[in-house]
Amino acid sequence: MSAAWSPTSWRGLPVQQVPTYPDLDKLASVEARLKRFPPLVFAGEARSLMRALGEVAEGRAFLLQGGDCAESFAEFHPDNIRDTFRVLLQMAVVLTYAASLPVVKVGRIAGQFAKPRSAPTETLDGVELPSYRGDIVNGIEFTPEARIPDPERMIQAYLQAASTLNLLRAFAGGGYADLHNVHKWNLGFIAGSPAGERYRAISDRISESLSFMEACGITPASVPQLRTTEFYTSHEALLLGYEQAMTRIDSTSGDWYDTSAHMIWIGDRTRQPDGAHVEFCRGVKNPIGLKCGPSLKSDELIRLIDTLNPGNIPGRLTLICRFGSESVGEHLPRLIRAVEREGRKVVWSSDPMHGNTVKAASGFKTRPFDRILKEVQTFFAVHKAEGTHAGGVHFEMTGQNVTECTGGAQAISDADLSSRYHTHCDPRLNANQALELAFLVAEGLKAERDEAARFAAAK
Ligand code: TRP
Ligand code: MN
Repeated sequence: MSAAWSPTSWRGLPVQQVPTYPDLDKLASVEARLKRFPPLVFAGEARSLMRALGEVAEGRAFLLQGGDCAESFAEFHPDNIRDTFRVLLQMAVVLTYAASLPVVKVGRIAGQFAKPRSAPTETLDGVELPSYRGDIVNGIEFTPEARIPDPERMIQAYLQAASTLNLLRAFAGGGYADLHNVHKWNLGFIAGSPAGERYRAISDRISESLSFMEACGITPASVPQLRTTEFYTSHEALLLGYEQAMTRIDSTSGDWYDTSAHMIWIGDRTRQPDGAHVEFCRGVKNPIGLKCGPSLKSDELIRLIDTLNPGNIPGRLTLICRFGSESVGEHLPRLIRAVEREGRKVVWSSDPMHGNTVKAASGFKTRPFDRILKEVQTFFAVHKAEGTHAGGVHFEMTGQNVTECTGGAQAISDADLSSRYHTHCDPRLNANQALELAFLVAEGLKAERDEAARFAAAK
């Protein structure tokens, strides 16, 4: 890969998953308009996230990343944003409390619109149409008109991302995320579930601690950390024309930042070392994620790390592992050993969703909760055996009470899937399943900490 980088240097390189726009003049004019729109995030925020992820890489913090598989224009509603944010707060509380570790909160939100597809076309009842590539590209309806890629959709995606981010910032800093509200995040259908009951027990203890601290003079007025949280955004940097248009030079550092989100990631289907997506991402200074699937060779990973994080900066690169519950035990150890042997600083995160998708007898795409859980547990067990930090998790989830993944304490069955199956792409954990998983992850983290404490005591 050549040393010279510019926001356009990816153009002309082999590129996967690109939509075929019929009107290239319109595409160019939309990209030119986007280039003049305000940045969605400030470079200084991306640097704060990098520092926070650096703490994760060093084993002193934990990354919680989650949100929709794909955001959609149709489900754009303040309640949906609030509900996703609320469940992420609940999960963060559980993890922070159990592990006594800071939790870095990153939403798959405010820009997660483009989807890679396994085939360029889709056939239904003998009719073949271009695949749906996410609302930023084309429409999900199975009609020839809807499936034509339309550049105007990028503008709508930008506007939706901007107002979503605005609400998230308001929630994070404006009082909603105040720890004194810890009980109020446990509302509605979650409160009555087993995970909701467990959550209540934790929030009771947190409230008690807050009252005690308040009596000691530690109040939200004196300690702003009690009433605000840092919440970051992320999405897959798939639609490179859009990402390029959002990429600007930061006036304070002189560096290039992709201002469409704090963190962006490269998908498992677009991580070719000489390909366009890797080329684009290597030049922006945001924290970068790299999805790692079973086909990723160990030496190829090292090559990608060389390209994406030549300075070996902790927090720059997060490896988001998505092997499947049956293969994580085979592939994760070899990648960890290669990274450790080469002395590379990375964040290890587990995406237990994408390797565990199956087609149910009913025809629905689903993910069995026990497989998701097993992948996370194996992820923790492998890190324990290798002596490395299980740094984070990456979930596809929603704050809604959907029925898309089978199992969990509510025991959603194959037959239940049809009742509330709303996803625009992959099946998501519902709020109860997400919270349940947070408790299970918290146990793994606590075990890691106890082990480290025993080790320190024995020395
Ligand atoms: N500021 C701290 C943090 O973000 C504590 C905190 C405030 C918090 N509100 C929260 C933690 C909501 C989890 C969830 O970690
Ligand atoms: Mn997905």
